[in-house]
Formats: sequence, structure tokens, C-alpha cells
Amino acid sequence: VTDIKELLLSRIRDVEDYPEQGVVFKDITPLLADPAAFTALTDALAEIAQRTDATRIVGLEARGFILGAPVAVRAGLGFVPVRKAGKLPGATLRQAYDLEYGSAEIEVHAEDLTANDRVLVVDDVLATGGTAEAALQLVRRAGARVAGVAVLMELGFLGGRARLAPALDGAPLKALLRI
Ligand code: PRP
Ligand code: MG
Repeated sequence: VTDIKELLLSRIRDVEDYPEQGVVFKDITPLLADPAAFTALTDALAEIAQRTDATRIVGLEARGFILGAPVAVRAGLGFVPVRKAGKLPGATLRQAYDLEYGSAEIEVHAEDLTANDRVLVVDDVLATGGTAEAALQLVRRAGARVAGVAVLMELGFLGGRARLAPALDGAPLKALLRI
């Protein structure tokens, strides 16, 4: 396979009715296990980091850590984890966001982002956009600028792109695959 989109798509497994009836789960573990595909993904996201002049990669727990950390190394940038609440020991900023049922909270170490930073948020999937939106709110509350959001795949039918637009405020949303 020469086309990177075909390669990536071929390594994402659809799991029907997971985690609940009627949902098709996008399983990226075959992609992670394939060094050619994982390298191609890392290189493509690192190129976005360079094109957007990012100074920091923010990865979203948990799958955004797996994708974002090698991107940071590849691009020569620092990595900043956004964690689910209660996991970071230092002074944090915390942001709540809505889930399908109920809500969740994420946190970042406040000192890891400064006014000099331009942040690229990296995650595997953009679905409703709630997680990425909360992450962008954290970035801005920390005083940093937003370079953009980069994801492996965007589930277009869930409208995450529109939801994210105000928080992006003109910064790009890059999806390698649109499903
Ligand atoms: C999943 C996925 C994205 C998020 C997308 O994370 O990895 O982070 O949902 O959904 P949204 O656009 O509707 O917010 P999840 O927290 O389910 O699991 P993870 O810890 O395995 O990343
Ligand atoms: Mg996630």
C-alpha cells in the first residue's frame, strides 16, 4: 500500500456493538502493532506540528498519549499530558466536559504551558468534540496559544468539527482520516 490513508485505514478495526449496542468502536491497536503504519502516522502528525509552528504537544489520556508522545519526540517538542482528573500531583487547571451520560473532568499541570507556547492537541478520534474542546479550554486558561488540533480520525457524522470551531478560534483541525 503506497497511500498513507489507505494504510492507516486498513489498520483500524471496526468492532460492532462495543462498548454498547449500536456503536461501532474504532480499534487502533492493529495500527499500533504495525511499525510501518505507526511510523507513518507519527510522521504525518509530526509534520502537522511543524507546519503549525507548535512548541508543545498536548496528548489526551489515554489514547492521545500513545499517539502524541512519539509525535513530540519526532518533532523535537515537549510533551504535556492532559489527564483524567486526580492523577497529576502538582498545581493543576481542571475542566469539566459532558459525556453521553454524565460528565468527566480533565486536568493539566498549569506550569507546563506558558504564554510563549503554541499548542498542538493530539488525539486518536474526534467524535462529539467534547474532549478536545475541554482540552483547548485548558490550553487557553493556562495562557498558551492554540496551534491546532490533530487527530487520526474524525467521525464526521457526530459534528465534532462544528462544536470545536469556537474553541479553535481559527486554528486548524487536521484529521488524517474522515469517517
Ligand atoms: C475517546 C477517544 C477520544 C474521545 C473522543 O476517549 O480516545 O479521546 O473519546 O470523543 P469525543 O470527541 O466525543 O469527546 P475515551 O476517554 O473514551 O477513552 P481513552 O481513555 O481510551 O482515550
Ligand atoms: Mg481518548
